[in-house]
Amino acid sequence: MTTPIKHKITVHFHQENRTVSLDVPEGENILQFFEKNGETLPFSCRNGCCTTCAVRILSGSVEQSEGIGLSRQLQEKGYALLCIAKANNSATVETQEEDEVYELQFGKYLDSIQNKAGNPFDI
Ligand code: FES
Repeated sequence: MTTPIKHKITVHFHQENRTVSLDVPEGENILQFFEKNGETLPFSCRNGCCTTCAVRILSGSVEQSEGIGLSRQLQEKGYALLCIAKANNSATVETQEEDEVYELQFGKYLDSIQNKAGNPFDI
C-alpha cells in the first residue's frame, strides 16, 4: 500500500486573524478538506461561481481548472477559488478583502449599468 502524497496548504484567514496549515492529500478539494478537519473558511455557492471563497496565492500553486467564476487573467494575477481548488502542490494563500475579486472581475460591467437611467437591467 502506498502512502498518499500530501501537500501543505496554509491559509491566512485575516478576517478572523488566524492561520491554518493542513497536509491535504493530492487531488483533494481544499475547502472540503479544511471543513472535514474542523476549519471553516469563507464560502457561498461551492461551485466556483460567486468568488466568496477567493484567495490570493502568496506562494506555491493549486489546481483550479474546474473554476468558471474566475477569469484567466485573475488566475494569472494569483487568485484562486478554494471551493473548486485541489491540492497539487504546497501553497500559502490569504483570504481576500470582501468583494475584492468580485469587483475586479465584474466592476467594469456594474459601473456601466449604474450609469444608465431607468431599469438597470434593460441594457
Ligand atoms: S464558494 Fe462561490 S466561488 Fe467558491
